[in-house]
Amino acid sequence: MKQKIIKVKTKSKNYEVHIGTNLISKLRNILKKNKLSFSKCLIVIDSKIPKKFRTILLRNLNDQKIFTLNFNANEKNKSYLSIDKIHNVLFKNNFYREDCIISFGGGITGDVVGYAASTYKRGIKFINIPSTLLAQVDSSIGGKTGINNKFGKNLVGSFYQPDLVISDINLLRTLPKREIICGYAEILKSSLIDSKKNFVFLDKNFNNILNLKGNFIINAILNSCLLKKKIIEKDEKEKNLRKSLNLGHTFAHAYEATLGYSKKLNHGEAVIFGLMNAVNFSKEKKLCI
Ligand SMILES: NC(=O)c1ccc[n+]([C@@H]2O[C@H](COP(=O)([O-])OP(=O)(O)OC[C@H]3O[C@@H](n4cnc5c(N)ncnc54)[C@H](O)[C@@H]3O)[C@@H](O)[C@H]2O)c1
Repeated sequence: MKQKIIKVKTKSKNYEVHIGTNLISKLRNILKKNKLSFSKCLIVIDSKIPKKFRTILLRNLNDQKIFTLNFNANEKNKSYLSIDKIHNVLFKNNFYREDCIISFGGGITGDVVGYAASTYKRGIKFINIPSTLLAQVDSSIGGKTGINNKFGKNLVGSFYQPDLVISDINLLRTLPKREIICGYAEILKSSLIDSKKNFVFLDKNFNNILNLKGNFIINAILNSCLLKKKIIEKDEKEKNLRKSLNLGHTFAHAYEATLGYSKKLNHGEAVIFGLMNAVNFSKEKKLCI
């Protein structure tokens, strides 16, 4: 299937979301087409991303001065300390607002790097290269960034849209099955909000999607991103409509908090339980039949 491009238009920023295969090896061209230029760049890299992908990415950024920072993605590291570490690299190397920071990782890396980008000198260029299914279908677009604190999850953050999102399907091939299921949870959430047609597509192609089969996985990502685009273009700052994207999440966050945001229960897994609770609760209250 050909590469898909979604154009997101919000009040604060317009940007493209590219979905396809081998995209990180086309990064130089994508940057050129998007007129995105910078002389320095910090890439924050999830430490579980295989070396071969880092090498491809770095090879495609050799026109710029590149700095890298490894990041251990877990909810504990979604913290002030991580923001401080990122800012230190930027300050020590005298980054300007016109320079760039790239998140190369899943939803945790993207949320942290996005927040660091939004707060460094009140905003530096930010490119998101999501490497998990959950991040490709949900967290990489829409501009919600944030960190956790002792009072709860994602309580400190900002709305800061990226300048570009590149969702390369190849990156998903090294993900453990457990993480693919977490991504499926957010796709399922989108289909429940969106349309019966998308829900039926997901249900029918469950195995093809979990096995990352070409057209099926690209269509599943595309449908989810299109719904998110539609919603955030109408309500970027979550005043009303965008709240629908939190379907199941109140319950999910409670489960995650109870288990101390540990690997015992990933965010996506908590979302599956949360969706079940939300549906049952709505049935009890006769809000859904
Ligand atoms: N900003 C938003 O709109 C939004 C939306 C949904 C979820 N989120 C947040 O996203 C987070 C969950 O994101 P996630 O599920 O991507 O978790 P994650 O970032 O922890 O990634 C999951 C695991 O996969 C590993 N990994 C990443 N890329 C890999 C690759 N290519 N190959 C092998 N391993 C790889 C990571 O190291 C980690 O162990 C939560 O903190 C949640 O709150 C944010």
